[in-house]
Amino acid sequence: MKKILVLPGDGIGPEIVAEAVKVLSWVRDQGLAIEWEEGLVGGAAYDETGSPLPEETLEQAKAADAVLLGAVGGPKWEPLDISVRPEKGLLGLRSGLNLFANLRPAILYPQLAEASTLKPEVVSGLDIMIVRELTGGIYFGQPRGVRTLENGEREGFNTLVYSESEIERIGRVAFETARRRNGRLCSVDKANVLECTELWREVMTVLAANYPDVELSHMYVDNAAMQLVRAPRQFDVIVTTNMFGDILSDEAAMLTGSIGMLPSASLNEKGQGMYEPIHGSAPDIAGKGLANPLATILSVAMMLRHSLEAPKLAGRIEQAVGRVLDQGLRTPDIMQAGAKEVGTAEMGDAVLAALLDN
Ligand code: IPM
Ligand code: MG
Repeated sequence: MKKILVLPGDGIGPEIVAEAVKVLSWVRDQGLAIEWEEGLVGGAAYDETGSPLPEETLEQAKAADAVLLGAVGGPKWEPLDISVRPEKGLLGLRSGLNLFANLRPAILYPQLAEASTLKPEVVSGLDIMIVRELTGGIYFGQPRGVRTLENGEREGFNTLVYSESEIERIGRVAFETARRRNGRLCSVDKANVLECTELWREVMTVLAANYPDVELSHMYVDNAAMQLVRAPRQFDVIVTTNMFGDILSDEAAMLTGSIGMLPSASLNEKGQGMYEPIHGSAPDIAGKGLANPLATILSVAMMLRHSLEAPKLAGRIEQAVGRVLDQGLRTPDIMQAGAKEVGTAEMGDAVLAALLDN
């Protein structure tokens, strides 16, 4: 029996996760031995326990084969000290489970080609996979903090640090990902300025010898940010550091014009994973039944593929999402002329209907 921990979190998290749970029920009905339980994370956890990541949640997550997360955060918790903000719950899960490999696909659905702010001819057929290092770099490096200098002035500081083994393990995931796709890997760094990423480039280059079927290239992050809007289809797989990946993955998601469609996976060495939509908690529309549940539903598909060894079921979910788009159903975030606007639950039900009718 495979165990899933479901963490709805904050904002639109509970609504979109509820639709994904309908899909989990379908998966179970297909005969896959899964069970799930719910846990607390983020602001919701802080409100109940005083911590955005209660010990119990971390234990539940460690005992699970996979975690399905909605979203965390919202204006309500912004005044809190950074150490107990909802985002700390997410970062604590990443480091507590050692989820060092973050896969963030940016796919343009042909049905939604008009949704991008870029010209259709620039983005049509877009299919990029960003492999972001997730448990190291400047997000976690020590020392960090704000200190007071002798002259009384305060100084903030963080540390960008990567060991060779940290670079190598994310590199392996990226090369293997590229091997299963179109065989092109672009490593993004700032090796012209930062020693740490000079080492990053060196380790990636050495690693490439083990993957003769993958073509490795290197790009500085500023250029990569520009190339992503200039000619995004030049990219197949991108591998980069925690912070560069944070920034570039938002940029790549926006190229598709439908951040509400994009799932993600965060994996450790044991194949355990946390799966979540790329979009955030969208507090402005929370509780209104307007949120797009498709990214969370597609996160279930990624979970089936990467942690539950059920790629066929994953494929069926992805097909069902495609069929719902073909039917012209759209939540407000992807609404277009001539389509039929639906709410969160209606969209989830439509995916379920497509699954059942297949
Ligand atoms: C993301 C988010 C997080 C990050 C925040 C919420 C801590 O932006 O998953 O991209 O910076 O990693
Ligand atoms: Mg981000």
